[in-house]
Amino acid sequence: MGGTGFIGAVLSPYLDEAGYDITVADACWFGNELPSHIKLIKTDLFDLKQEDLKGFDTVIFLAGLSNDPMAEFSPKSNFILNTALPAYVGFIAREAGVKKLIYACSCSVYGYTLNKTYTEEDPAICNYPYGVSKLQGEKSLLALAEENFNVISIRQGTVCGFSPRMRLDLAMNTMFKNAVQNHKITLSNHRIWRPILGLHDLCQAYHKALEFNAEGGHVFNISSFNTTVGQLADSVVEFVKNKMNIDVQIEDQNRQDYRNYKVSTDKAFELLNYKAQQNDLDIISDLYDHLDQFSDFTNEKFYNIEVFKKLVEQKALIA
Ligand SMILES: NC(=O)c1ccc[n+]([C@@H]2O[C@H](COP(=O)([O-])OP(=O)(O)OC[C@H]3O[C@@H](n4cnc5c(N)ncnc54)[C@H](O)[C@@H]3O)[C@@H](O)[C@H]2O)c1
Repeated sequence: MGGTGFIGAVLSPYLDEAGYDITVADACWFGNELPSHIKLIKTDLFDLKQEDLKGFDTVIFLAGLSNDPMAEFSPKSNFILNTALPAYVGFIAREAGVKKLIYACSCSVYGYTLNKTYTEEDPAICNYPYGVSKLQGEKSLLALAEENFNVISIRQGTVCGFSPRMRLDLAMNTMFKNAVQNHKITLSNHRIWRPILGLHDLCQAYHKALEFNAEGGHVFNISSFNTTVGQLADSVVEFVKNKMNIDVQIEDQNRQDYRNYKVSTDKAFELLNYKAQQNDLDIISDLYDHLDQFSDFTNEKFYNIEVFKKLVEQKALIA
């Protein structure tokens, strides 16, 4: 569900190729770039009924509002789509006999942390709408977990890399775009820590979660690596200089951020056998290799908040 979005446009074909019989349900806010043979039901997920989910083994929930600007633009939709919607989908899935639900949560639930690598046991304390809504979505799904209904919440780092449904509003993707377009990367604060998750590693994690046989509810941090925003920018600058002969400046605004966290993926390694494989250069190379497919940097379709505002203006969505 939500399988035509930035993550879904990579994960859905990946799972299809891995031999899973998949059906995507999505309202297609950003269009549909899935291969045509993948079954797609274009729908608002709130319109799905229990009967629609009969016969499915697993639901993967990738829907909702997927960043802070959207959540701040529409606090109401944020809490409806990130908290009430997963609860509704989880409830009808369990009633329909679905065995497993995998939820795309976010490491942003950790908020502003200091000098500690956070495990899933550490407190998740955040005070901004997106983080709170994702945490509450996770909690409501875990509350539904039972012997025959396995809930796996994947707290994803910031996902980066190329997707056929491209986003240029995600940390590394934005830096790469700004380096190429403006020859300048502006950072809010170079000391801020973030876990970054390459799409290849993300697919691996979902694959492992699908194969994981366990009862009840489980939470996993998933990232490829932890980095400061400054280190990430340095890598982008070096890559762009070497490959494209572009000199890129870094401007650091030294602002206070409300998010700062690094996470441990030890639990995912121990229970899922998840092993991160991508480093910063792998992800930047992925972007570079697909540059011709998103080089129209001003196209608003690459920026979630722009598409969302337009859908609200057109009354296709209620804010
Ligand atoms: N991209 C990241 O860095 C990141 C990091 C952590 C967590 N997440 C979570 O992962 C999920 C997917 O992220 P993404 O980057 O692919 O987001 P995205 O915005 O690209 O895709 C979301 C998809 O959900 C669909 N959708 C939303 N509400 C819907 C509804 N009510 N009915 C039907 N379809 C609906 C949209 O049409 C869209 O295709 C989100 O839940 C997000 O919160 C993303």
